[in-house]
Amino acid sequence: MIISRLSLKNWRNFRSIDIDLTDRVFIVGPNASGKSNLLDAVRFLRDIAKPGGGLQQAIVQRGGVSKIRCLAARKEPAVEITVELKNGTDGPTWRYSIGFTQQVRGYRQPVLRYERVWREEQQILDRPTPEDTADVIRLTQTSLEQINANSEFREISRFLDSIRYLHLVPQLLKHPEAFKGPGLAEDPFGKNFLELVARTPENTRRSRLRKIEDALRAAVPQLINLSYVKDETGIPHLEATYTHWRPGAGLQREDQFSDGTLRLIGLFWTLLDGDAPLLLEEPELSLHTAVVKKLPALFYRMQRKRKRQIFVSTHSWEMLQDRGIGGEELVMLEPNNEGTIATVASKSADIRKLLSAGLSVAEVALPRTAPPDIEQLTLNLE
Ligand SMILES: Nc1ncnc2c1ncn2[C@@H]1O[C@H](COP(=O)(O)OP(=O)(O)O)[C@@H](O)[C@H]1O
Ligand SMILES: [Mg+2]
Repeated sequence: MIISRLSLKNWRNFRSIDIDLTDRVFIVGPNASGKSNLLDAVRFLRDIAKPGGGLQQAIVQRGGVSKIRCLAARKEPAVEITVELKNGTDGPTWRYSIGFTQQVRGYRQPVLRYERVWREEQQILDRPTPEDTADVIRLTQTSLEQINANSEFREISRFLDSIRYLHLVPQLLKHPEAFKGPGLAEDPFGKNFLELVARTPENTRRSRLRKIEDALRAAVPQLINLSYVKDETGIPHLEATYTHWRPGAGLQREDQFSDGTLRLIGLFWTLLDGDAPLLLEEPELSLHTAVVKKLPALFYRMQRKRKRQIFVSTHSWEMLQDRGIGGEELVMLEPNNEGTIATVASKSADIRKLLSAGLSVAEVALPRTAPPDIEQLTLNLE
């Protein structure tokens, strides 16, 4: 299943956007244009649907409705999210839609304005129901998060719960003990990556590490025999042999791997792990441009094996130079005073023309997402 359409109203810096999505989604835009916020809207739905999650927690984690609601919005409108979910060729198409705000008086608790579900264009949930109106506390919970209320559309809950987000920070993976902070259950930054590797059944782990080593060979040819070990105290590690010009090769552990190597290992591992939608934050970071160029094709190949939707936020010219990327796969974010506008590149006739003339999405779309005053970027060092 994939998210085939996303519509947001008053979500952070988006006043109102409505975009169609494909199996691969590249999100581009200047700094602070809302790339992460867009991914976060999808994570928000995941946080509602996951076991032990729910609407209240998802909102509290983000600092409350006032942090989420678009600052450019007048009065206190509802924050609204709608997704359409498509199931390949078979299976139903779903639509899930919520609007929420906070109580006007009292505890100012977040409450649903509405919650609606459609299955094949037929509406199967329409809240508030008369029961909700009679007992407004009910509106503090979505039906999505309640097992006894979502039986007709549990497929949506399961699907949203399965979504994964990755923004691997090599320092966290190398030195998890140095970073206290709250442990996030989903571990998007890789703090518990090695534990995740340790928890994976041995056969799966071995076969995955072998595939990763194969894939790494092109990018980091000196690294061989990537394997999993436990040290004397039982702590899991990744180990590899690092060949070099001096005689005798050295064994290295993850804290000696380069940042780029670690990010690639984390990325490959995650790509091989499951078939749920994957949200990737700037996967190009710390990687050589020659490696970055290969990423779109790698995503594509993987998707042919198993249908898995991938969202990628990126600034990378190299990645978007891949001529295999179509205009329908590119979401362009353009900030303005009223909030950021999101457009799928192929919606523009100009862009379609340039793409069919053989230009890449990098050439066609990236210049449009540069900040208008970028030439004036200087730093006064006097
Ligand atoms: N509730 C909100 N209303 C308006 N803007 C917001 C809100 N919350 C965050 N932002 C703005 O969104 C921007 C950050 O977007 P982000 O997704 O991190 O950008 P990117 O990932 O593209 O660099 C910041 O400029 C921040 O001020
Ligand atoms: Mg960001």
